[in-house]
Amino acid sequence: MNARNPSSTPASALAATESAPGRINLLGEHTDYNEGFVLPTTIPQRTRVELSPRRDDLVEVQSAEVEPGQTRSWRLGDEKPAKRWTDYVQGVTWSLAQEGLRIGGFDAFITSEVPVGAGLSSSAALEVSLLRALRVAFSLPLDDRVLATIAHRAETEFVGVPVGTMDPIACTLGRDGSALFIDTRTLLSEQVAIPVEAELVVIDSGVTPDRVGEYRTRRRECEEAARRMGARSLREVDDPERPEVKDLPEPLRRRARHVISENARVLRAVDALREGDLAELGRLFAASHASMRDDLEVSTPEVDRLVELLAAEPEVYGARLAGAGFGGPVVALARRGEGDEAARRVVERAGAHDRGRPRVLVPPQPDQQAR
Ligand code: GLA
Repeated sequence: MNARNPSSTPASALAATESAPGRINLLGEHTDYNEGFVLPTTIPQRTRVELSPRRDDLVEVQSAEVEPGQTRSWRLGDEKPAKRWTDYVQGVTWSLAQEGLRIGGFDAFITSEVPVGAGLSSSAALEVSLLRALRVAFSLPLDDRVLATIAHRAETEFVGVPVGTMDPIACTLGRDGSALFIDTRTLLSEQVAIPVEAELVVIDSGVTPDRVGEYRTRRRECEEAARRMGARSLREVDDPERPEVKDLPEPLRRRARHVISENARVLRAVDALREGDLAELGRLFAASHASMRDDLEVSTPEVDRLVELLAAEPEVYGARLAGAGFGGPVVALARRGEGDEAARRVVERAGAHDRGRPRVLVPPQPDQQAR
C-alpha cells in the first residue's frame, strides 16, 4: 500500500488526488427510474481519493473511515461483489472494462466527509471521485456525462442496486448554490441558481434508510402502472387526474399519482427558482412531502416529525423528506443566515428516538468541518 509513494508510478501514468461531493435532492423523488425530472444539489461534504498507479494489475485500497488501517486488494479483471464497501471500487474498475477503457493497477487511499448510509450518496461520491482520479492517472478520454454513466453501471450492474441516474449525475455535475435540473429521459441537465436569499438545511433523521427491498417494490409498482396504461414510463403521463390513472388498482394509482405530480412539481420549482419565489418553493416542498408520505408511502414517523418542526420555523420556506425514504435526510430551504439556528432548534426539540438521534449535516457543524 503506497498511495503516497510516487516511486511506483510508471512514466506514462500520473498520481492524482480528486474529489466529489455528496448530494441532496431538492425535488423530484422516485422520478429518475421513471424517466422523469429531478432537481438535486451538492452538499459541502466531499469524498477524496489519493491514487498512485502501479506497474502491475493489482488494486490496493484503504478507507480512512470504513475498516481504517485495513488494506483490501484484488487483480483487475478479478472483481467479485463481496457485500462490503470495496464493491463500489471494484464496480468502477469492472464498469470501466465494460466500457472498453483500459487502466493499470493502482493504490488508492479514500477519505470521506459524506456520512455513509445517511442517504446522501456516499457511494456515488466515492465512485465519481475514484473515476476522476483514474481519468487523470490513466489519461482516460471520459467526459463528465460518460463518467456518470460508468458510475451508474457500477452501482446497478455490479453492486446490484436498481437505482436511477440522479446520484452519479448530481455528484459529477452538481454545484453548491445551484440546483441541477436533470431530465433523466435524455440525461440533459441545466444549472438553476438557488436564490441568494435562501440557504440549504439538511438534517439526518437518525433512521438508517436500509430498505432496498421496498425501493425495488416501488420501482416495480411504477413500471407496472405505466405498463397497464400502455405507456413506456410514467413520464409519458402528465396529468394525475386522467381516467387511466384513476382506473388503476391500489396501490398503483397512488404510486402513479406521486410520480406524475412530482414531475409537475419539479417543473414548477424550476420556474419558482428562476423567479426567486421562495414561498412557492416552500409550498412545493410541503406538497412533495405529503405525496411521499401518503401516495408513495416511504416516510416514517420520525421523518414526519422533523418535517413538521422545520415547517413550523418562521425562517424556513419549506421542508421535506429527501432521497429514497424509509429514513435518511430531511431537506429544507431557510432564510439565509438563519438555517443553522433553525436546524439546531429543530434537532433539539425532536430529541432522540428509538432508532437514533437526528443531527444537523448542512450547514456543516463545527465537529464535522471539511478536513
Ligand atoms: C435513491 C436512488 C436515486 C433515486 C432516489 C429517490 O437515492 O439512488 O436514484 O431514485 O432514491 O428519488
